[in-house]
Amino acid sequence: MECSGEALESCNMEKVSILFVCLGNICRSPLAEGIFRHIVVERKLQRQFSIDSCGLGNWHEGSPPHDESIRVAEIHGISIGDQVARQITRDDFLRFDLFVAMDKENRRDLKRMNINDENEIVCLREYDSDRGGLDVPDPYYGGGRDGFERVFEIIYRCSEKLLDELLSR
Ligand code: 4NP
Repeated sequence: MECSGEALESCNMEKVSILFVCLGNICRSPLAEGIFRHIVVERKLQRQFSIDSCGLGNWHEGSPPHDESIRVAEIHGISIGDQVARQITRDDFLRFDLFVAMDKENRRDLKRMNINDENEIVCLREYDSDRGGLDVPDPYYGGGRDGFERVFEIIYRCSEKLLDELLSR
């Protein structure tokens, strides 16, 4: 069912709940949550999606996103400073339909933890038009400002493709 802002009232698409997942939930997945939500709002599709992010680890529970993630998002007109890091829970596997991992390791760990056969677990870069592997590089490890900018660009272009794919189902 193809949905658009104009056709929302007649859109039959069931609400899709999406959880973006990385390791710490301070660099990549907060950007993915913020970017995907931004694109969804731009296209007036917010009623069709429930969007969240989390980390596989608990090191940064309760913290805001990394300063550089907040900064690069802000440069592009997206506010993510209100997000609070949290660790994935067992309940998430019952609450969310689609798990979008930032890299192959995250995807492997999610598949190991999964308790619901109906869940879909993918890597974000499966939706990348530029072939550059399946991993969104982790800028936490010495990425610098350029690293965060590159991560923003990767996540943005993949998010547009992911949304297009979901709407074409
Ligand atoms: P993220 O980056 O998974 O993109 O949030 C990381 C942030 C923190 C750590 C690892 C990765 N850490 O080990 O604390």
